[in-house]
Amino acid sequence: MHLPKWLGGAIVGATLALAASSAFALTIGFSQVGHESDWRTAFSKSMQDEAKKEGIDLKFSDANQKEEDQLKAVRSFISQKVDAIVIAPIVVTGWDQVLKEAKDANIPVFIVDRDVDTADKSLFVCRIAADFNLEGRLAGAWLAQALKGRGDMVELLGTVGSAAAEYRRTGFNAVEALFPLIKTVKSQSGDFTTQGGKEVMESFIKATDGLKGIKAVWAHNDNMMLGAIQAMKEAGLKPGKDILTVSVDGVPDIFKAMLAGDANASVELRSDIGPDVFTVVKGYLGGKRDYPKWVVIPSDLHTIQDAAEMLKKKGG
Ligand code: AHR
Repeated sequence: MHLPKWLGGAIVGATLALAASSAFALTIGFSQVGHESDWRTAFSKSMQDEAKKEGIDLKFSDANQKEEDQLKAVRSFISQKVDAIVIAPIVVTGWDQVLKEAKDANIPVFIVDRDVDTADKSLFVCRIAADFNLEGRLAGAWLAQALKGRGDMVELLGTVGSAAAEYRRTGFNAVEALFPLIKTVKSQSGDFTTQGGKEVMESFIKATDGLKGIKAVWAHNDNMMLGAIQAMKEAGLKPGKDILTVSVDGVPDIFKAMLAGDANASVELRSDIGPDVFTVVKGYLGGKRDYPKWVVIPSDLHTIQDAAEMLKKKGG
């Protein structure tokens, strides 16, 4: 068929426009845990910034640490027929049914940050996350040497049932088990919040006559440690000096606390992983299939030695 030149040009133009728009018209649902910590807020920002940069329509849902809200959000993404769903799960359990629903709707699911315990691993494409067990082991190793292998300590647990709390605890305890003279004498959840950390530390201070005999605090995140530091200082104690601290995340305020002499060590959990996540999601939607089941984000430990440098890096 011979088309007039103007019509042929119009068709080519429309086809190109369609191709261009479909290349950038991905709609992705992201179910986020909440905004409980500085790390979480920075991670949400990284996801939102990267989606914007990539022209992705990101449906962002903050579950405010409520499991039922998270399940509702995922079901709403399924009914909106999004191209992919990214989930940062609050807890490891309770995912099988909703992940089956996503699979039946042919929507690929990517797990980020915390883990799920589904027996059927084909219900999600892969998990993009740091090694929480390694973070616990790094924290434990640092503390064991700082305590010279001896001393009572207390633990501020993260959210009960979350992979971040469970795997970190397992990793830390594995190292602690090598040092029979290091003992965790108190352990309680502060739910990964500053307020939670402060309240739990206040109760530890009361129960132990002002942390008598306690040489260290291990917190599953920096925000709980920042709350605990506040509680210890209000009680006239000297965290960072008389009581050693080690936590996880590497948020700007923990480096400020190190520089002020109030904190000792933190394992960095990278929050700027939006580009890592969307590279995998877009690659998968573009046909790439050879992703490992776990795309590991590296973590490392920081102390006063590089606190100023880390604070600068984090823009603090
Ligand atoms: O799942 C990662 C943890 O969740 C972070 O360490 C903590 O700050 C957040 O609440």
